[in-house]
Amino acid sequence: MKRIKIKDLLQTPIVDTEVLVKGWVRTKRGNKNIAFISLNDGSTINNIQIVADISIFGEDLLRDITTGACIGVTGKLVKSQGQGQSVEVAAATIDLYGKSDAETYPLQKKGHSMEFLREIAHLRPRTNTFGAVFRMRHAMAFAIHKYFNDKGFFYLHTPIITGSDAEGAGEMFHVTTFDLAKIPLDKNGAPEFSQDFFGKPTNLTVSGQLEGELGALALGDIYTFGPTFRAENSNTPRHLAEFWMIEPEMAFYDLSDNMDLAEDFIKYLIKYALENCMDDLEFLNNMIDKGLLERLRFVVDNEFVRTTYTNAVKILADSGKNWEYPVGWGRDLQAEHERYLVEEHFKKPVILVDYPKEIKAFYMKQNDDGKTVRAMDVLFPGIGEIIGGSQREENYEKLIARIKELKLPEKDLWWYLETRKYGTAPHSGFGLGFERLLLFMTGMSNIRDVIPFPRTPKNAEF
Ligand code: 4AD
Ligand code: MG
Repeated sequence: MKRIKIKDLLQTPIVDTEVLVKGWVRTKRGNKNIAFISLNDGSTINNIQIVADISIFGEDLLRDITTGACIGVTGKLVKSQGQGQSVEVAAATIDLYGKSDAETYPLQKKGHSMEFLREIAHLRPRTNTFGAVFRMRHAMAFAIHKYFNDKGFFYLHTPIITGSDAEGAGEMFHVTTFDLAKIPLDKNGAPEFSQDFFGKPTNLTVSGQLEGELGALALGDIYTFGPTFRAENSNTPRHLAEFWMIEPEMAFYDLSDNMDLAEDFIKYLIKYALENCMDDLEFLNNMIDKGLLERLRFVVDNEFVRTTYTNAVKILADSGKNWEYPVGWGRDLQAEHERYLVEEHFKKPVILVDYPKEIKAFYMKQNDDGKTVRAMDVLFPGIGEIIGGSQREENYEKLIARIKELKLPEKDLWWYLETRKYGTAPHSGFGLGFERLLLFMTGMSNIRDVIPFPRTPKNAEF
């Protein structure tokens, strides 16, 4: 008999048919005559109830069917007598694939803290919460590809190992094959990179944007969606050292087109989840964050506020709040400021534009005021910055002047500069942090809990 997934079985249950289901035991209860086993196979948040007659299977087998054990069951699908489910499987045969010692199985009991579950990241996908989160993660990844494909964007694979620092923040992990105890040194004591694998210093990418721009200036509309790496030592609920980023890059888009795309994109993803992931969303809304569904609908139904950085600083300065980090024109906004603007002042998602050039990356298009650049940050409730992007500086002279001003390694960026020399075009793009999106979509409060195996300072187990 062919196995049926529990999701499919529950979607169109046909009573009186013989079925084969396989999965992990969530709970077992009953009396000396009968056992009720709740089985989950990961295909859905919902379990199927297995009813096993102890006189058929014997006490020994049923004793081994404990929480966490893996079994395969054949039997007839019947209308359930009990509450909580419409159908159940009347077991005819039970195969025990893997026992799970009730004394030691870490998920024997419910109600563990998120901190504890992080330490057992190899098992936490078997909990309802993490099952829901990782199914949502999949659904959002799929919806992202669908959105861009339907809009005629091309998925461009930008490199993971690179020689450049796109954001210029110097938060990079080196990539080398040197024996760290015996690095060849030149006469000044610096590493002899010509002897390294790539013959030059390389690192894990912090962003696929620069290569994405090369694609946009040939294919028109592209996006990258891949892992990015930042060695920033920030232990916050919103930072990972390894995270996934979606970076669309569009020829002929100005900043306002860029904002329109960002808003439409996020709203599409939320609508997709509301239409396709309701079982998991309802579970998360009940168990994790009672305001989740309301917040998702609110964002879909309302226009994002668009205003300038300068105006935001004024609002923050006039707020009368006691900020942990000082507010002032020229200073970067911290999460507490961003969240105040979104949650207390505007009470809507906010897009801030025209930031001081000093706090933004070299590639952003310079405004005529000589002080600001055409940056945009999208700020979300509970999160702060979810998207960062800009119109790009397409003017060769202005771009090179900025590179020199910042003392960036001009010669390493020769290929980037050539796109401004040959057929340059106005263009724009942005980066959406995938895990920050998932924080918003799931109501989880720590970014470590929306990626299967989080990488943070001093943490790279599994
Ligand atoms: O604002 P960022 O640094 O922008 C860029 O990297 C641009 N190159 C994007 C572009 O224009 N193509 O990062 C973009 C987004 C942030 O808004 C945030 O959502 C997320 O990436 N992000 C992080 N997410 C998790 N952990 C971190 N350490 C993150 N750093 C940024
Ligand atoms: Mg940013």
